[in-house]
Amino acid sequence: MNWEQVKANRRVWDRISSWYQQAHGPQISRRPKLWGAWSVPEEELGALGPTAGLRALELGCGGAQWAGALAAEGAAVIGLDLSGEQLRAARARVPDLPLVHAAAETLPFRSGSFDLVFCDHGALSWSNPRDTVPEVARVLVPGGRLVFNTASPWVRVCYDGSSDRVTANLRSSYFDLGALDEGDGARTYTLTYGAWTRVFRANGLVVEDLIEPQPAPNAPSSYYTCDPADWATRWPAETLWVTRKTQ
Ligand SMILES: C[S@@+](CC[C@H](N)C(=O)[O-])C[C@H]1O[C@@H](n2cnc3c(N)ncnc32)[C@H](O)[C@@H]1O
Repeated sequence: MNWEQVKANRRVWDRISSWYQQAHGPQISRRPKLWGAWSVPEEELGALGPTAGLRALELGCGGAQWAGALAAEGAAVIGLDLSGEQLRAARARVPDLPLVHAAAETLPFRSGSFDLVFCDHGALSWSNPRDTVPEVARVLVPGGRLVFNTASPWVRVCYDGSSDRVTANLRSSYFDLGALDEGDGARTYTLTYGAWTRVFRANGLVVEDLIEPQPAPNAPSSYYTCDPADWATRWPAETLWVTRKTQ
């Protein structure tokens, strides 16, 4: 485990939390259960399905828009986040939600505690999946699901750092995907499709679906600048994995 990197991610999120909530909070909070950077509704995608009655853990809950929505529908949800500042935003938005301040790499829960672990560009993006997926598999019950949305390999290999834009050209090596420097020591991770599949299999998770959310034309995003502007309607910018722990 690279603890320096975990600490760096926490420092960065504590520092940017109030800016992030101002910049992106309105889009994420526009209505309940919107997936990803272009806010594609869960009712279109059906990635989580009905969650009432499930014991659920949001891994990197940020302002807890998702956890709050599932709690309102009758799930027993815990919001977990590495950043105290992000949890402050969660507490302000959903006062009664159980919150845990911890890293996804070392989950403070007994094995088999949850029916569902999920996140939307949360800890499965902001940690090394080779550390986090085993922890997720441990805390899931047999038959439980890990469902998460993260940046697609496409968006990463088409990203142009000099213009800070996602472009229509292949710019970096697909096979070199992995850790991405987010500044000040923080990192996100994007794996190849094959590498994700092997991490899941090594931890007893089978892929039930790989949803590629396609936004409506002109759907706004406060996260990415793209060239062409309708990039995400033409190529998959995000991968929404639906996996299940085998018995
Ligand atoms: C992009 S936000 C996503 C949260 C929410 N879905 C949203 O859209 O705002 C990423 C969140 O993951 C949290 N995070 C980053 N690394 C983490 C880790 N290793 N363990 C737990 N949470 C982490 C950050 O603090 C942040 O709140």
